[in-house]
Amino acid sequence: MPEAIEIRALQPDEIPLAVGVLARGMRDNPLHVAVYGADPDRRLRCHARLIRALFRTSSAQRPIAAVRGGTLVGVTGVAPAGTCQPGPARKLRMLPAVAALGPRTARRVLGWTSTWAKFDPDEPHVHLGPLAVDAHLQGQGVGSKIMREHCARLDDAHEVGYLETDKVENVGFYERFGYWVTGEQPVLGVPNWFMRRESAAR
Ligand SMILES: CC(C)(COP(=O)(O)OP(=O)(O)OC[C@H]1O[C@@H](n2cnc3c(N)ncnc32)[C@H](O)[C@@H]1OP(=O)(O)O)[C@@H](O)C(=O)NCCC(=O)NCCS
Repeated sequence: MPEAIEIRALQPDEIPLAVGVLARGMRDNPLHVAVYGADPDRRLRCHARLIRALFRTSSAQRPIAAVRGGTLVGVTGVAPAGTCQPGPARKLRMLPAVAALGPRTARRVLGWTSTWAKFDPDEPHVHLGPLAVDAHLQGQGVGSKIMREHCARLDDAHEVGYLETDKVENVGFYERFGYWVTGEQPVLGVPNWFMRRESAAR
């Protein structure tokens, strides 16, 4: 019998493991190829650096972990309403990590994040992401378990959900959980979709 997957809050001491899962899980996403370049190792290193800085500077983050047999197999960042867009102080704290990516990649990251910021809804919303299942474990139901927990929390709290994605197969995945595309915009030539979820009426 396959080992059960536990879905729970990510503990602060698990953040380094979560950074690894997210960097490996998203290594080949089209947007990451466009932003970080053709070298897969560089994509891993760059994204790990960015995610580490994101967690370090976003104290409001409430990430959800999927754990199987004591191993972290999937994780998502969850920014509570009103916390997803960084103010000037948080941007400043992120800056060294962005600058360390090198000028060309830093410019691309800033272009990417400013496009996403433009589409960010004005209404209060819980912002999902980054979400990934470890690279060798995708397609086994882990991501769906994380999404079920996340959406149950949204429904319990009557909150609107929101996310961005750069893969058309993910659009279908998120639609299964009640998200709908509200906008589409290429980032560095890669299609990106913006998706919103209304809380289920209770
Ligand atoms: C998207 C992701 C979180 C889904 O989690 P998962 O555990 O692989 O998905 P599940 O097994 O629960 O559900 C499978 C569905 O996910 C979607 N999917 C997206 N990417 C997939 C992948 N790389 N492998 C398998 N399924 C994928 C498909 O719709 C699939 O449905 P199908 O089996 O009917 O084709 C995971 O595949 C992943 O980490 N992908 C790479 C990183 C990424 O794109 N993250 C989301 C950024 S917005």
